[in-house]
Amino acid sequence: MSARLDYEALLAGLPDAVVGVDEGLRIVLWNPAAEALLGRSARRVMGRMLKDVFPPDTSLVRHLTDTLATGESRSEAEATVEGGDGRPLHVSVMTAPLAARGGAVAAAVAVIRDITRLRQLEAEVRRGETLAAAGRMAVGLAHEIRNPLTAIRGAVQLMKRELGDDARFREYTDVLLNEVTRVNRIIEMLLDLGRPVTLRLAPLNLHQLLERVALLSQEMAAQQGVQVIRRYDPSLPPILADEDRMLQVFHNLVRNALEAMPAGGRLTLITRLSLNPLFSKVDLGQGPRSLAEVQFVDEGQGIPEATRAQLFTPFFTTKDRGLGLGLALCHRILEEHKGTIQVESQAGRGTTVSCFLPVAR
Ligand SMILES: Nc1ncnc2c1ncn2[C@@H]1O[C@H](COP(=O)(O)OP(=O)(O)O)[C@@H](O)[C@H]1O
Ligand SMILES: [Mg+2]
Repeated sequence: MSARLDYEALLAGLPDAVVGVDEGLRIVLWNPAAEALLGRSARRVMGRMLKDVFPPDTSLVRHLTDTLATGESRSEAEATVEGGDGRPLHVSVMTAPLAARGGAVAAAVAVIRDITRLRQLEAEVRRGETLAAAGRMAVGLAHEIRNPLTAIRGAVQLMKRELGDDARFREYTDVLLNEVTRVNRIIEMLLDLGRPVTLRLAPLNLHQLLERVALLSQEMAAQQGVQVIRRYDPSLPPILADEDRMLQVFHNLVRNALEAMPAGGRLTLITRLSLNPLFSKVDLGQGPRSLAEVQFVDEGQGIPEATRAQLFTPFFTTKDRGLGLGLALCHRILEEHKGTIQVESQAGRGTTVSCFLPVAR
């Protein structure tokens, strides 16, 4: 073989973080991907003891110690390490021994792969599948309910006419009609969820849309003492979206935010070009285009960790008179726009819902 492999360059170009330690667990290798993932520069950690950089009980330290002691590889598909900001990162860890000339283990390396994004994408896919299945079931059910409901409404209207203006009965027939109308609305929402929608895509000014939604909710916001703050990026290009559908999405999200702040607070509407590495470009068939991001940041009660996974499930609600279809519908609509919706929340502090939508050019 003529060409010598440039190991330095190879390690530097690897997308996975590679960390190497000598037999005394002193850090001797820390590639650029490790700097990025673990949030610590090579300059700061090279030559330091691994246990001074990470808590001694972390998987990474444990596996490297084991590998040095036994000469065997270790791997863990789902581990956590501490990122630069102290937050836990979901990673996979694989370690391997490096033997010295005599055969004794002289060093060990760990390959650390970020699986946070992978998990996020997996969750996305699963969510989509659940929704599709639930949607199909809902449509079947809705059709079955609609016909008897129409018959009930017809019968009540007849009854109302027959009974004339006997006040005692009118009260009952009015209740019946109102409730039938309510069930009908629910059915319509369900059908919306399952129906393949044909989007009427057009370039839309995101800020005008948001302002229309803000206007619709102005009264409710004022009543609850919620202040609406705008942080719009004026240079944002128009988005490619269906106006009615987007109004529906934004209205749902603003409503949720207001409902989470019964005692007041701030609702901040933020727009910008997406900087999120997972959702920054999408291909609608004519090459990649950028995504615009709209954030709805509230200071409401937040969402407990335990319920976060269910937010998009149809009929999941924590409200007495909630339907639990708002977020499911938002998800559906954004997916059809080739966009995405993400929720981040801290219980007790507030919630941020982000929508990503393709720009028109
Ligand atoms: N901004 C928010 N703050 C706190 N909880 C929220 C927020 N948005 C949604 N949720 C939670 O998600 C659930 C589902 O929301 P949604 O699908 O809109 O249905 P609904 O509003 O009818 O309950 C809500 O019941 C609530 O528990
Ligand atoms: Mg809602």
